[in-house]
This record gives sequence, C-alpha cells and structure tokens, in this order.
Amino acid sequence: MQEYGILFDHSLTLGFRMHDRVSDILSRHYLLVKRLLLAGSYLVLLAFFLPTAASFQRDFGEMAGNLLIVILFLSPLSVLFRMPLLLLLMGLRRELGILMGCLALVHGVWYFVTPSFFWETGQSLLRVSGFVWEKGIGAGIIGLALILPLLLTSNTFSVRLLGGKLWKRLHRLAYPAFFFIVFHRFFMGESWQSPVPFVEAVLLLGTYTMMKFLAWRPTAFPWLQERIGEVGVRYRQYRMERV
Ligand code: HEM
Repeated sequence: MQEYGILFDHSLTLGFRMHDRVSDILSRHYLLVKRLLLAGSYLVLLAFFLPTAASFQRDFGEMAGNLLIVILFLSPLSVLFRMPLLLLLMGLRRELGILMGCLALVHGVWYFVTPSFFWETGQSLLRVSGFVWEKGIGAGIIGLALILPLLLTSNTFSVRLLGGKLWKRLHRLAYPAFFFIVFHRFFMGESWQSPVPFVEAVLLLGTYTMMKFLAWRPTAFPWLQERIGEVGVRYRQYRMERV
C-alpha cells in the first residue's frame, strides 16, 4: 500500500514538473502561439481552394470535434483545479475556437460541394417516410449552423457591437453545438452499431455535465471536492519546496 503511495507521489511530482515546463514555454511565447493559431485557422480555409481537400475533410471533422471538446472542458477544469496551465489555456479559447470553427466549416461545407455526397444524402433524406433527416448528417448540419455565428463573432469588433452580455449569451450556443456534434460523431464514426461510440458519447456528455455542476456547486460532493482540492494543495507545496 505504501509503495502505491510513493509511486503516486512520484507521478504527481513528474506531472507538476511537466506542467510547469509547458506553462513556462507557453507564457513566454503566448502572443506567438495566439498568432500561430490564427494563421493556422486561415490556412485551413485555404483548403477550399485545394483540389485534394477531400482527402483530409474527415480528419478536419475529427480535429474540429476534438477541439470543441477541449475548449468546453477547459472552463470547468480550470475552475476545479486552478492550475496555471489551465488558466493560460483559458486565455487562448478565442483562438482555439476560431481554429475549430474553420476546421468544422471546411469539413461540413466540402461535403456539400461534393456532388456524389450531396446526391446520396439528398436521396436518403427523402427516402425514409417522406422526409426524415438522416440522423447523423442532420446533427452535423445543426452543429455547423450553431458554430457559424460563434466563428463570425469571435472578434473584438463583435464584442463591442453586441456588448459583453449579449455576446456571452450568443456564445452559449457552444453547448447545444457540443451536444449535436457528439451525436454526429456517434453516428458518423467507424461503426455506430458497436457499443464503443455509444459509451463514448454517454461518457463525454455525462462527464461534462458532472464537471460543470461541480464547478458551479463545489460543495455538492464534499469528498470529491476534497480530492480535487488536494491536487491544488500538493501543487502549492511542490512550488514552495522549489523556491
Ligand atoms: C454540414 C455539416 C456536416 C456534414 C455534412 C458532415 C458530414 C460528415 C460525414 C459524411 C462524416 C463521415 C466521414 C467519413 O466516413 O468519411 C463526418 C464525420 C465526422 N464529422 Fe462531420 N459533418 C458536418 C459537420 C460537422 C461539424 C460541425 C463537426 C465538428 C465540429 C463535425 C465533426 C465530425 C466528426 C468528429 C466526425 C467523425 C470522424 C470519425 O470518427 O472518423 N462534422 N461528418
């Protein structure tokens, strides 16, 4: 038992050391990272003009979906753990969101300009009992429709124009977008008949809801709050020892 405790302590120290290293590099090059993320987003849009775009449109969808998950999890995680790296990443959410939006845009729109896909989807949309959305594609379209206003207003001009309150309210669209994209991923993944994508979708939505709740009401589960708080306490101890 004691050996496990020592192993845990060592892993925690290693984790803290890596955390500090990454935070240090990120804070030293913060502006550069922001610019690189924006430049990356514009480069992604250039894919519209590439004849080979079809070969990576699936990867773009996967990257957009994963980024959306990261962006949404950052907020409750930073409240719960209060680690410097998470707080630094919170400041990059706008740039990460723009990159996610551009990837999602190219992924989604490219399918629609592909005649064979458009034709097949159109047929399957109309085939089932008159007019029923093909579940996965419908969720993708709704997800993209919710992400687009976020992409278009992720700039200082829009914040000024809308005012902070309305802008924040508009950006809550990220939550339903997350829901629809999880649904879309579930149906469009390798084999949605297998239990894995289903378990993944339930785990994602469940963990996120739980984390949001804990960040909002930290006292709801005192034993859990204690465990989570312990990481912060151990980190501060680690920092004190290093000074
Ligand atoms: C007009 C909207 C959209 C359409 C028509 C669309 C279409 C598709 C199609 C056809 C696939 C299957 C790809 C394949 O099997 O080769 C797919 C997969 C996927 N899409 Fe979309 N999509 C849309 C929007 C989005 C958005 C907005 C996101 C994320 C923000 C997204 C994320 C994904 C992900 C994560 C996968 C699964 C990749 C995998 O597991 O392999 N999609 N989409």
